[in-house]
Amino acid sequence: MITLLIIIIIYMKIDIVTLFPKIFNEFLNKGLLSKAIEKQIISINLVNVRVFAKDNRVDDRPFGGGVGMVIKPEPLYEAIKSTGVKRKNASYKYCYNKPYVIYMTPQGSLLNNNIILDLTKFKHLVIVCGHYEGIDERVLNYIDKEISIGDYVLSGGEIPAMALVDATVRMLPGVLNPKSIINDSFFCNLLDFPNYTRPAVFRGYTVPKVLLSGNHKEIQKWRDKQAYIKTKTRRPDLLLQK
Ligand SMILES: C[S@@+](CC[C@H](N)C(=O)[O-])C[C@H]1O[C@@H](n2cnc3c(N)ncnc32)[C@H](O)[C@@H]1O
Repeated sequence: MITLLIIIIIYMKIDIVTLFPKIFNEFLNKGLLSKAIEKQIISINLVNVRVFAKDNRVDDRPFGGGVGMVIKPEPLYEAIKSTGVKRKNASYKYCYNKPYVIYMTPQGSLLNNNIILDLTKFKHLVIVCGHYEGIDERVLNYIDKEISIGDYVLSGGEIPAMALVDATVRMLPGVLNPKSIINDSFFCNLLDFPNYTRPAVFRGYTVPKVLLSGNHKEIQKWRDKQAYIKTKTRRPDLLLQK
């Protein structure tokens, strides 16, 4: 009898297109990200837009006048294309096996756990970081999705890209203990329950007695109840979501 051993490797390639690749050094070399790279669950490639600027210029003044600079379309397009993105014509449809190009922008869809869960299905993400006043609008023709990390404006797309990568990678199988993901806020439309660690008394503040009881059934009941109370008080909107 031939025994077939099937090993399923979850592998996601992530390209980050940026004017400032050095910002990512510490982020990629420490903690969760570096472990996921080491385990070959993901690979991350930094694409420096400046390399694609023929005249050494990556930005220029806006047509029509006004303050600030705009990232030029040609080097940005070439940088995106260098990641293997092919297209685009009217009949193009994306699927989970093709590169999915995301532009981080305050004008995009607000990032949430559902978007993150959808992103975990792709094999190849290309994340574009803007800067200055943003990118030339025509490059949006080569973007599949625009994502914002909140209703405020940062000076560049690098921090939003880090938030997106971190939140996505921690959801990939093999990166974290699944039990910790299930209890995390938003996973089941609930906020996390309160957590405590040693010492049992901190400056007069004590730990709920049940957590010291060793009764795991009661502890779970308490945690479920606390998660519900927290959610109802702070984020009742989550309880209405399907
Ligand atoms: C100064 S911002 C440009 C803002 C643009 N003028 C606007 O008002 O929509 C420069 C870059 O930072 C990034 N960025 C800033 N805020 C962001 C947010 N809330 N979410 C995602 N990306 C953001 C984008 O890549 C953007 O192109």
